[in-house]
Amino acid sequence: MSISQLARSIPPSATLKLNEMAKMLRKKGEKVIHLGGGEPKSKAPIDAIYAASSKLNSADIKYTPTDGTVTLKKAIIRYTEENYNKLVAPENVIVSNGAKQSLSVLMQAIINPQDEVIILTPYWVSYPEMVKIAYGVPVIVTPEDGGVHPRIKEIDENVGSYTKAIIVNSPCNPSGAMFSEEFIAGIVEYCEKKKIYLIMDDIYSQLIFDGRTRISPYKYAKEDSDHSRLVVINGVSKQYAMTGFRIGWTIANPQVVEAMDNIQSQTTSCPSALLQAAAAGALTGIQSHIESLRLTLENNRNVLLQELNTLDGLRTYKPDGTFYCFPDFSAYNKDSRALSEFLLEKVLVVTVPGVEFGMEGHLRLSFCGTIKEIKEGVERIKWALDPNAPNEIFIGDRKLVRDWL
Ligand SMILES: Cc1ncc(COP(=O)(O)O)c(C=O)c1O
Repeated sequence: MSISQLARSIPPSATLKLNEMAKMLRKKGEKVIHLGGGEPKSKAPIDAIYAASSKLNSADIKYTPTDGTVTLKKAIIRYTEENYNKLVAPENVIVSNGAKQSLSVLMQAIINPQDEVIILTPYWVSYPEMVKIAYGVPVIVTPEDGGVHPRIKEIDENVGSYTKAIIVNSPCNPSGAMFSEEFIAGIVEYCEKKKIYLIMDDIYSQLIFDGRTRISPYKYAKEDSDHSRLVVINGVSKQYAMTGFRIGWTIANPQVVEAMDNIQSQTTSCPSALLQAAAAGALTGIQSHIESLRLTLENNRNVLLQELNTLDGLRTYKPDGTFYCFPDFSAYNKDSRALSEFLLEKVLVVTVPGVEFGMEGHLRLSFCGTIKEIKEGVERIKWALDPNAPNEIFIGDRKLVRDWL
């Protein structure tokens, strides 16, 4: 079979693969605890459902403009004004099939072969592959202190004449770290000075804890929206718990938006008219959904941290946002893939190996599930790893007896 060199170099998304594996095991009746997931449990906002139902009932569901319907783009402009204190024009906005497509089409729109894109460790699994799909070169920058906060000095050491863009994801999947205002201000200024695209993946920007306030990169941008290389990505997946609706968007200068529009028009055309209606419904409807999700996640985070604290030798960054925690398990096993496989095989807990995010020795644990799942998941992990734990454990009515440690 003839498969392209490019395709052969792209692995499947580790997180999506694990989702499928968890589903398959559950179907077989296994009592799996999925701490690897990337979607909130709550239902989509009712305003999204009403808007989609009314569109569906019209039976008039056709192509829309490639960059999105007027209604959705208006809602996005209002969202940007409210959340970023920035007024953008329709020419600055393009809607895609999820923020994942927004990012991927953006890469294709700005990268020439061999252009470099700076990616900060720990990073979302898809960034390096998206860059490669656009024939670019991912340049991974890892904090020297082994932490989860990037420094401009370390980024600067990796920027050269081929650098086209830097991706910043704050709060970050997988660490949950929200970068400081000083860093955001500094990186906006740095990218303007170097004439590099700054891609802010803000998909989790509403899901932040401990009274933190959102940081608008536009506050520090000096270039106007028609010439700025600042690009902000967002979507309905996480904040509105609408992962399956597949609507994301990009705010960028009009030339970038036009280039993305051309690529989308030749590949996927517009996102679904029905799902755009749902996204507009979510954006213009009652917003209390986000706050209640945020509060639930903050509480879940606290419970997870409390449970993790009972494991000796674990180092954990307290997540400032998102629904992920990224503890360092290297005291137990330095090989995160082996550890993740071990936990799935022995105690049916799904975790994501840190190596997929560029940080070996860690595991990503999601706290977007129920408190019961979080507690039981950590209890099982603890049982599997703690030599002082009792020899037996029950999973449902199945008794497990330890044959290791
Ligand atoms: C950091 C980050 N960016 C983008 C996305 C993509 O979101 P969407 O569902 O809108 O494609 C995800 C989803 O997991 C993510 O974690």
